[in-house]
Amino acid sequence: MKSDFLIIGSGIAGLSLALKLAEIGNVIVITKKQKAESNTNYAQGGIASVLSKDDNFELHIKDTLLSGAGLCNVKAVEKIVREGPARINELIEIGTNFTYEAGMLKLGKEGGHTRNRIVHSMDLTGQEVERALLHSCSKNNNIRIFEYFFAIDLLTTKNLKTESNSKSELKENFEDICYGVYALNVETNRVEKIVSNKTIIATGGLGQVYQHTTNPAIATGDGFAMGYRAGCELANMEFVQFHPTSLYESATETKRDDRQVFLISEAVRGAGAVLKTIDGAEFMHKYDERKSLAPRDIVARAIDTEMKKRGDSFVYLDLSAIGEEKIKNSFPNIYKKCLEKGIDITKDMIPVVPAAHYSCGGIKTNINGITNIKNLYACGEVAMAGVHGANRLASNSLLEALVFADAIFKEIKISYNSFEDKIPVTVRYERIFDWDDKGTENTEEWILISHNKKEIKQVMNDYVGIVRNTYRLERALRRTKMMREETEEFYKKTKVSVELLELRNLLTVAYLIIVSALNRKESRGLHFMLDYPEKDDVNFLKDTVIKKEDNY
Ligand code: FAD
Ligand code: SIN
Repeated sequence: MKSDFLIIGSGIAGLSLALKLAEIGNVIVITKKQKAESNTNYAQGGIASVLSKDDNFELHIKDTLLSGAGLCNVKAVEKIVREGPARINELIEIGTNFTYEAGMLKLGKEGGHTRNRIVHSMDLTGQEVERALLHSCSKNNNIRIFEYFFAIDLLTTKNLKTESNSKSELKENFEDICYGVYALNVETNRVEKIVSNKTIIATGGLGQVYQHTTNPAIATGDGFAMGYRAGCELANMEFVQFHPTSLYESATETKRDDRQVFLISEAVRGAGAVLKTIDGAEFMHKYDERKSLAPRDIVARAIDTEMKKRGDSFVYLDLSAIGEEKIKNSFPNIYKKCLEKGIDITKDMIPVVPAAHYSCGGIKTNINGITNIKNLYACGEVAMAGVHGANRLASNSLLEALVFADAIFKEIKISYNSFEDKIPVTVRYERIFDWDDKGTENTEEWILISHNKKEIKQVMNDYVGIVRNTYRLERALRRTKMMREETEEFYKKTKVSVELLELRNLLTVAYLIIVSALNRKESRGLHFMLDYPEKDDVNFLKDTVIKKEDNY
């Protein structure tokens, strides 16, 4: 297949960009499962933006920078904040139904925000945004969405045929150019090459590398791993955000490897819920004056400390200050889901634990979404343009995805008429090798794949979680390296399958997180090291950048 533009991923970043790029060319969107299945679809709280009279851009910028603990790129932060209202308007124009009160958008509050500024659609914001974007895309003849197409690896210079004059014909400088992607068509079980003039990675997050995560099964970090293998720079991979409040389930917990724990939105604390230990005592005042509404790194660490100190498996979230009517009106989905588990949140406290939630690090881009590989862009959770620094402020990620998707569109639009981009995609297509799986066989070794998957998730949970130290990280690195080498060997001999591809990507992502964490010998934001408990601005007020060495 070929198209002017190829977008990998059908979450908020990919779809909002598809709608815009369709104005200047034809767009293929590929997505690994059903098109709505994405982190976006599960977003609850909403989208942060300055929309009320008592708020202003400077305050939102200040809150974001404070949360980011010195590592935010101020230009990127200013960009998302100032463009927020325009991007929200675009969502409204395509028919997104946000929640209103007295004719105005109702604005919620979340941790670290000094004003009410979260635009939402009850507690199902992501589902509503995803619905509206997919509906709009379905009406656009220039957009084709292919479900169950799993992107394996980016097509780069090394996939070009060398026997022809392709290099000089294409008149391109042959270092680091992207031509599209090899993707597994899951329904036919064939690997296809999809060639494009511009390729955009919008594959979302990596929460599934941890045992306990709010992320759905698709979030296996494929885009990070794919980018790394192709030679992209990745930055700040050590900053994995743990959401403080996911529903604790022991007896009823499903035993699947790729399970997703249910989130209890921070908006619930924004509406007045407070955290308590099992004996009913409040504890957040001991950690931060903002108490239960402190930024996430502080709240998650406080919960972790209290649980370890007391030997408890969870803490409670007490919603009694909110009141039954408001609970049912504002959080109908959380109310319903908890009731299904036997918890009536209008009366009972909710048992909660922190869970891996969001990757602040990712493929390094500039503030126009450009990566270090030509014709390759990245946006959304997989990208790192510098907005979140060492800790993301709540509800800034949907906003970031919209703003940088728009930036990529504008960037491509300006440059798209250049001579080089006029090279027909058909010419590029002919120059790329087909997928070659000679010498590989189907596998029966499912146990190897599922065992390693379980083990890497356990290793990450136990050694690379909220509180870290060098000893644990080194131990995690040794185990990861061993599993990675074993899996790479196996990969070379085996026909690809989704399970194997995901395992390979999970191991790569684990490796990137661990190595980045070992490189940062200080504690900052989401990265807390017991053996380096202080922030060290002299040595570490900078991004951790990592790029593939040739042999690994
Ligand atoms: P996604 O929405 O995850 O989309 C990624 C897409 O890429 C998916 O379609 C996926 O199938 C596809 N894909 C991945 N790998 C491949 C591959 N190999 N081949 C083909 N396709 C692939 N943020 C907020 O700002 N506000 C919130 O209220 C909020 N609540 C959240 C609640 C939950 C439970 C979770 C998990 C996250 C929440 N977040 C929230 C974070 C936010 O939802 C995500 O950061 C954001 O949706 C990411 O959007 P995206 O488009 O980058 O990725
Ligand atoms: C939530 O609703 O608590 C999630 C918000 C976010 O991750 O930004």
